[in-house]
Parts: sequence; structure tokens; C-alpha cells
Amino acid sequence: LEYINHQLTVEGIPLEEITKGRPTPFYLYSWRQIERNIERIESVFEGLNYHISFAAKANNNLHLIKGLKDLGVGIDVVSLGEFYSAKRVGYNPHNVIVNGNGKSLDFLREMLVYQPRALNIDSWEELERLVELAEAEKKEITVALRVNPDVDPITHPYISTGLKKSKFGMDLDMAKKLIGIYYKHPYIKIEGLHLHIGSQILKVSPYEDAYSKVDNFIKGLEEHQLTFMNIGGGWGIDYYKDGNEFPLEEYKKKVIPILKQMNMEIILELGRFIVGNAGMLVGQVEYIKKTPHKTFVVTDASMADLIRPSLYNSYHHIYPQFNQGQEKEFDIVGPICETGDRFAEGRSLKSPMPGDYIVIADTGAYGRVMSSNYNFSLRSAEYLVKDQEVVEIRPREDFEEITSYFK
Ligand code: LLP
Repeated sequence: LEYINHQLTVEGIPLEEITKGRPTPFYLYSWRQIERNIERIESVFEGLNYHISFAAKANNNLHLIKGLKDLGVGIDVVSLGEFYSAKRVGYNPHNVIVNGNGKSLDFLREMLVYQPRALNIDSWEELERLVELAEAEKKEITVALRVNPDVDPITHPYISTGLKKSKFGMDLDMAKKLIGIYYKHPYIKIEGLHLHIGSQILKVSPYEDAYSKVDNFIKGLEEHQLTFMNIGGGWGIDYYKDGNEFPLEEYKKKVIPILKQMNMEIILELGRFIVGNAGMLVGQVEYIKKTPHKTFVVTDASMADLIRPSLYNSYHHIYPQFNQGQEKEFDIVGPICETGDRFAEGRSLKSPMPGDYIVIADTGAYGRVMSSNYNFSLRSAEYLVKDQEVVEIRPREDFEEITSYFK
């Protein structure tokens, strides 16, 4: 994103050109940015035995998933739907990691057939369900236990997952017990551990703490050798555009040595870091509404398209189409009948006008996937800029399609 002659451009293409004939709101992604993000991850893990997988929950557009597969990136799925998507674009089971804390019988049965690279088990209860199925069907399966290391990731409470009060994973004592019980089981092959402590993490220390804890744990497992360690995702991005991003160099210095001496295959499941800053929501200004108290920018994009600001009070940088004129403070809101339908309050912007386009940045992760039909909004189209061309990678929904259940 860059202003050229006061007009916003995406990879050098003026926004005006991108929006021509394409009704807003829509999501727009940059393939080059996704590639760059993958390259940055690779530069951190260079020299280790590692495998990057993409947490499809962050963005499950089939074209993006397919593109990542072609780059050699694996995938982490958490539901039958995401699993189906991975299969649909031709993922090899060996590159699929399966997560989730409430896997249904159908889901587990499907996994016994499909044989993913690892099925991450969330609890004793879930493992018992799996054991019963595997014994009945006489099928082997590779399992990782999701452990909860009880560390504070220093992020928003809704996206903290590794505290001991969290619903995810099991404590290390339970993991030890299960490994003891199922070591030598004919069908259940516990070969790895999994942990994920939270999302939008910008500090290295929670990772250091968590991985040191599991490292000690692994050293204490005398006879049972595990072969892989799934270290989760959670790397944050620079939403505020103030340079406060995930400190890769510090991670390299402090965390990589811990992982290296574990001497196991390292699996990553990053979502936001791979696609977050590669996507944006493009809307159009309907009105500039003035009241005695405030000035509102009313856009055609809403909380139905992007719920993060309403749900987490999250910050997204907002770019008007032109960076000319006087800077003023605005509340940027959508057309949904909820006070919470606002993207920003008291934001300084250079005078947007009705009809101008507006870009809500860093919405490639947890954007379109969390959108809804609230107020009967249509879920938006998605476009990809690749090799200087803009291609539609998913059409906008239409009313016919959504009402088709009414015959
Ligand atoms: N692995 C597991 C087991 C996860 O639960 C998650 C995210 C990830 C990997 C990927 O995390 P990432 O690298 O993207 O931080 N909707 C929230 C984020 C929820 C994250 C859920 N789990 C948001 O919009 O901020």
C-alpha cells in the first residue's frame, strides 16, 4: 500500500483501477506479500528440520490454500469443513495437521481413513474416544498430545489459549500419564507434542517459557521417544504500523537454540503471520455524516464483513483513497443496525468524501472467514493481486443462492 500522486495504490496499481467494475466491499490480497511472509519464516528456521503449516482458520479461500500448497506449505485444519477444503485443493495427507478441542465421532472416523500427518489430541476424553474407534476399525493413527504449558502470552484474553484455565490442551502431568498408558499401543502412535499459547503475540518470552517447559518434559520421558514437536502459531503482526512487530531476530537468538537441541522435527502452524498483512478490506464511503458531537464516515463495509474491531476492539489502520486535504477526526462506521458496527473511533484521516474508496488494512487473517450474513449482508468477493493482475478468487454471494433453501 502506497500513495502515488496522492492516490492509494496496491502493488503499484491505483485503487481506482482495482475497484473499476468491482462492487465494494471486497477483500483484496497480495500474493507477493504472502510469499514474502513465508520467506521470512524460512529465514528464521533455516538449518532446522522444520515444516511450516498454514492455520486455515485464518483464511480458507481455496485459491490461497492451493497457492500455499504449491509453495510447499502444509496446512492445519480444525474442522471437517477445513479438512474438506484441504482435500479439495489436493493436499497430500502427509502435509495435513488436524486440530480442534471437540472432534466429533465422524471427524475422528474420517481421520482414521485419511491418515493425516498428525492428529492433535486435546484431552484424555478425546483420546479415549479415538482409542475405541481405532481398536474397532483396527487402524493405526499418528497422534500428538496438545499440552497446555500454562504461560501468559501477553495478548488479548479472547485469543490466549495456553493458560491453565483455558479450555485447550492438557497439563503436562496428564500428557505424561497418557504417554505411559499408550506407549506400545498397537494403533495409537503418540509421536509428538503440540502446543499453541495464543495469537497476536508480539513478545518472545512467552515462547521461550513454553518451549523450555516442554523441553524439560521431553527430557524427562525416558523410554518413550517422540519424533516431532508442533510449536503452534501466534506470531503477531504490526497492526498499528508503529514498527512493533514480531521480533524475528530475537526469536532466532533466544528460541531457535531451545528448539534446535530438542532434536525433533519442528512443525509450525502460523495463520496471521502468513496472510494477515497480505489482505485488506476495500469499501466505499456512502456518507460523511455530521452531528453536533462527531463526524462519521459511513461506509458500505460493516461488521458483517470484518468483525474484529467490534469483537476485540482491535485496531486496523485505515487508508482513505486520497491523502490530500486537511486531517480531521472521524468515527468510521458501517451500515449495520448495531452501535458496535464501527471500525474506528476518533481516527485522524485526510478528508474522505462520499464516493471515495477506503481501505481497512491488515485484514487478510480472520477477516473474510469471520464474516456473516447479519442484517442479511452478502459475504463479500475476494480478489488477488498476482503478477500485477487482479483476479477474482471468490465471487460475492448473491441473494438467490442464500435464499435457495426456501422452495
Ligand atoms: N494453532 C492453533 C491450535 C490455533 O488455535 C490457532 C489460532 C493457530 C494455530 C493460528 O494462530 P495465529 O498464527 O493465526 O495466531 N479470531 C482471532 C484469532 C483467533 C486465533 C485462534 N487460534 C483474531 O481475529 O484475532
